[in-house]
Amino acid sequence: MLQGKKILLGITASIAAYKSILLVRLLVKAGAEVRVIMTPAAKDFVSPLVLSTLTNHPVLIELAGTEGWSNHVELGRWADLFVIAPLSCNSLAKMANGQCDNLLMASYLSATCPVMVAPAMDEDMWQHNSTKRNLQTLHNDGIYIMPVETGELASGLFGPGRMAEPETILHAMISRFFRKDSLKGKRALVTAGPTFEAIDPVRFIGNHSSGQMGFALAEALYLQGADVVLVTGPTALTPAFAGIGLVRVVSAAEMFEACNRVFGNMDIAILSAAVADYKMQHIAEQKIKKANTDPTLQLVKTKDILAHLGASKKPGQFVVGFALETENELENAQKKRLAKNADAIVLNSLKDQGAGFGSSENQVTILDQDGIALFIPLVSKTIVAEQIVSYIVSKIHA
Ligand code: CTP
Repeated sequence: MLQGKKILLGITASIAAYKSILLVRLLVKAGAEVRVIMTPAAKDFVSPLVLSTLTNHPVLIELAGTEGWSNHVELGRWADLFVIAPLSCNSLAKMANGQCDNLLMASYLSATCPVMVAPAMDEDMWQHNSTKRNLQTLHNDGIYIMPVETGELASGLFGPGRMAEPETILHAMISRFFRKDSLKGKRALVTAGPTFEAIDPVRFIGNHSSGQMGFALAEALYLQGADVVLVTGPTALTPAFAGIGLVRVVSAAEMFEACNRVFGNMDIAILSAAVADYKMQHIAEQKIKKANTDPTLQLVKTKDILAHLGASKKPGQFVVGFALETENELENAQKKRLAKNADAIVLNSLKDQGAGFGSSENQVTILDQDGIALFIPLVSKTIVAEQIVSYIVSKIHA
């Protein structure tokens, strides 16, 4: 996600500095090249040795030392983004006033790249008028300020002031500064997860879909610049990016309504949800009691969302379905694509070991009017999603 990006991380003196280690790990894992500058006081909170080991570069602290002078101008010009996390109350005040008494402040004042900060302080400091004034000044200076979280604070108090979690900082960073533009201006609908069809007030018919594939697709579309609406059945997941419009539904009928409402405005729709094909003819109003005879459930078909959207598709709309097949996979998937008027269908085969429901990996084949368009071997669902989205980008820009 951050392949080739250069991130300058500033760490100031706050208990939250221990989270910087996790942030560095996430940045490096996402492909970024990371350099760290600390204020001298931050050394008491986190070890420069750990940070230099993780980044593979010396941690910079002093403006001048026995090895010479640190060129702060170079650092601010080298970076694609300067992130200061945690930002203490003291360093916030210095930034707001342009005070330059350490390397981190000198680098901030000479940075030509965008800057974002993740404040961390106690509730009383966070609520103080001077903090509010200083944050407003930073905002006016074009600095992006991560919201603080509410929770237990180092002082033992409970309230706002906790630094955002490293994952939240990473996602905000990507979302704000590193989205691509191959789908800029395009709107995309994604369905994800299972649907639950109620039997009575306490029971339902469901399936094992985790929603991972659909969430990964929504995130991949978003990272390419699309405006994304994700309609999901019951899952424990939340999208990584707050900018993804999330609609939570329970039943196939609710999913149908939610998709139908927005589809007319969409350029792309990817229907990856494992929608129940049947629902109860009548949902029992009261809990069904055990009886001496074995019960029979009377089921009726749900509406097929993909088939409905396929039938109402206008020129310029690109619709992708999913197919789960156990025999004659390619032939059946292609038939399904034609029957539901989808532009492409992503075939999951149950024969593929390690792929599918509940797994974090998948192996799929994309079929379109020309036959097999792309085979994606067993890789993480994130990579599968990126490749499906690349395929869609190539089709809609063809
Ligand atoms: N789908 C849908 N609405 C339904 C059922 C399925 O939108 N009520 C979509 C799925 O999201 C998927 C595609 O249709 O994109 C294929 O679903 P699948 O269950 O594989 O196929 P079915 O059409 O249900 O046929 P079968 O179960 O007989 O293979």
